[in-house]
Amino acid sequence: MEQYVIKGGIPLEGEVVIAGAKNAALGILAAAVMTDQEVKIENVPNVRDTRVLLQAIEGIGARVRYEDEHTVIICGGTIRPNSDLCVDDEFIRKIRASYYLLGALLGKYKHSQVALPGGCDIGARPIDLHIKGFEALGAKVDILNGMISTHADELIGNHIYMDVTSVGATINVMMAAVLAEGKTTIENAAKEPHIVDVANFLNSMGANIKGAGTDVIRIRGVRELHGTTYSIIPDQIEAGTFMMAAAATKGNILIKNVIPKHLEAITSKLLEIGARVIEYDDSVRVMCDKRLKSTNVKTLPYPGFPTDMQPQISVTLALSKGTSIVTESIFENRFKYVAELSRMGAKIRVEGNTAIIDGVETFAGAAIAAPDLRAGAALVIAALVADDYSTISDIKYIQRGYEKFEEKLQALGAHIEKVETEKDIQKFKLKIG
Ligand code: EPZ
Repeated sequence: MEQYVIKGGIPLEGEVVIAGAKNAALGILAAAVMTDQEVKIENVPNVRDTRVLLQAIEGIGARVRYEDEHTVIICGGTIRPNSDLCVDDEFIRKIRASYYLLGALLGKYKHSQVALPGGCDIGARPIDLHIKGFEALGAKVDILNGMISTHADELIGNHIYMDVTSVGATINVMMAAVLAEGKTTIENAAKEPHIVDVANFLNSMGANIKGAGTDVIRIRGVRELHGTTYSIIPDQIEAGTFMMAAAATKGNILIKNVIPKHLEAITSKLLEIGARVIEYDDSVRVMCDKRLKSTNVKTLPYPGFPTDMQPQISVTLALSKGTSIVTESIFENRFKYVAELSRMGAKIRVEGNTAIIDGVETFAGAAIAAPDLRAGAALVIAALVADDYSTISDIKYIQRGYEKFEEKLQALGAHIEKVETEKDIQKFKLKIG
């Protein structure tokens, strides 16, 4: 089984280039099937989740061609409208975002079938708001034998209020509405940068969406969508992860190909705890040469502090001077990494959706396991801090959302390798000494 072996204690220094945003790419790749014409998408991150979704898109009959590692051409014209348009269970069990095909296929073909979604185990992750939105547009939604099926004779625009701010439901309902009759308003819509990117992509295909990035999105249905060429925005969470790694390892990293505005909440917290952040047009430099200070963090929908950065800042605060409080307000079960981090010497107590963190000077190495995607990345940061050897198993979670993670860290001076066997680990230890 693949795992990382790490010898930490080295400040990360150098430059890293950020890939395209995974959570924008997943919505955009699904939306690409909403036209019969060719769609060319650039800056697609080469991660497991995007590769699995592209396999699912091929599985329903679309043509998928890679022009290069990060550029894919999709043609939905080869999809057979009268087929069952069923997204096979094997894909949805691997990635939750396969459910974006529910909205895309419903919007284009007025029917779709997708297995109930899986995804990182960070909470219940219901899809009631997706269903509420589809039904508001006139679709009939059934859940039977682990499959969600949608069908509509016609889709009519409507006024939809999201009880909870949901990224996935906002994107799914937006896709179902772009070809509906008349006007749709989505109230209490999610405002993340990836929502705006999906809306901009759909508009480049001829959709009529206004207000994406605010909490009210207005959509006027159009008759059909056409082909386009589109480049995905940089990944705000990959960028934030490397920003935290610079702070936690007391390093100095220039993080390139970012949109600084998308990183404001992360930058603000780093400045608050004593790191230095310099913003340029499309890059940020993060430096730290002293022990950081404690602070309090509460995860919120964008532009608040992102839940996908909660494990990474908790690791950084676990090294800070003083006591910090981290409140996870989005998901119910996103502190699973705390047990692993405690084995490295961190002092963290979890009470409900709050972690009370008493900072320690450093961590000890340990054999730990990645519980989910972002927690896995956070535990890599912790192992890079420990002036010791650590191993991290279940790195398949990390590979879902970080492209060439170990290569990028090696280029920053980290002693990290992907290994398979105990023998590989001994070889690594002999090499590093
Ligand atoms: C997306 O998940 C992201 N995944 C998550 O990133 C991210 O953590 C999350 O948005 C919040 O930003 C993708 O984009 C593929 P939500 P999603 O619907 O859409 C509740 C990562 O690490 N809710 O915004 O599933 C839900 O339970 C992943 O890249 C309902 O109640 O998140 C949660 O408490 C992890 N009913 C809250 O809304 C619904 O129908 C926010 O969830 C849908 C959601």
